[in-house]
Amino acid sequence: MGREVMTAERFTMERLSDPAGFKAQMTRDVRRGLTADKKSIPSIYFYDDHGSELFEEITLLPEYYLTRAETEILEAHANGIMSSVQPDELMEIGAGFARKTRLLLSAMHATGSGSRYVPIDVSDAALKHAGDALTTTYPWLTVDAYVGDFLLDLHRVPHQGRRVVAFLGSTIGNLPPDERGSFLKEVASSLNPGDVFLLGVDLVKDEQAMISAYSDAQGISAQFNKNVLTVINRTLDGDLPLDAFEHETRYNEACSCMEQSLRATRDISASLAAIDLHLEIANGESIHTEFSCKFTSDSISQELIDAGLSVSSVLTDRLDQFALVVAAR
Ligand code: TRP
Repeated sequence: MGREVMTAERFTMERLSDPAGFKAQMTRDVRRGLTADKKSIPSIYFYDDHGSELFEEITLLPEYYLTRAETEILEAHANGIMSSVQPDELMEIGAGFARKTRLLLSAMHATGSGSRYVPIDVSDAALKHAGDALTTTYPWLTVDAYVGDFLLDLHRVPHQGRRVVAFLGSTIGNLPPDERGSFLKEVASSLNPGDVFLLGVDLVKDEQAMISAYSDAQGISAQFNKNVLTVINRTLDGDLPLDAFEHETRYNEACSCMEQSLRATRDISASLAAIDLHLEIANGESIHTEFSCKFTSDSISQELIDAGLSVSSVLTDRLDQFALVVAAR
């Protein structure tokens, strides 16, 4: 593997887990998920290169208020946060194309903080794109990117000095609710005293507004959801028929989660040749593909406290749609 120096000297990229390991992990997850009574696929497999692009499109949809609300908060508060923390580097978990990150990086520069950006993401294409674009826009910036699964590889990303660790976009809500606590503990244990954790979370709101955000009129959410079948077919030599599934979304009040799934619209017989798995999926049966859990300021603060962090502020947009929590050890 090793470290690859990209276009500019100031941009390097390193793979934390090798592609064979990733395929082995997918094999285990897909076998377990698709042979269970209640079928599911972990949401990390949405984000191949095409999936990361489709998700970028989602962030621009009129119905998808999350990105605009979080951007508004960052515009109002990035300078204040960076001038009080004065970090040496910004680490970003699940960075994707790192568009909102620009607000944090500009604020670092404006307040005389450090000039290193350390993103970790599963999509190397998204990181490559982000690193090229950011080092071009910001001639003072160094980007050291890591390709990996943040659930497994967080501790393998090296530190240099004081850090702001950003986990934006309410991606925390995509972890299954019962895995959230242990992940937050891991983030907490990766922080040194003086480091700051910035966590973006979507807030519970009017149900229809949440449902529209995950079932847009143009059908991009549906394409994104179905892309996970393309990823599985390609990686595991499968023939899951995309046209025999429809995109489903619903709000589950018990866990305050939007839940996305793919519902079979006829009886399906398919196989994944690479892992010798034959599947029978009945008409009407659903494959769960994602949780997008929603929070209140109090509920997320309590979860951070339970993970051993102290919360210094909860910043929201004008319409109280989204929150950015500032926490530390
Ligand atoms: N991480 C995104 C979110 O929870 C993923 C997402 C947006 C999504 N729209 C979707 C997943 C539609 C499946 C279907 O907001």
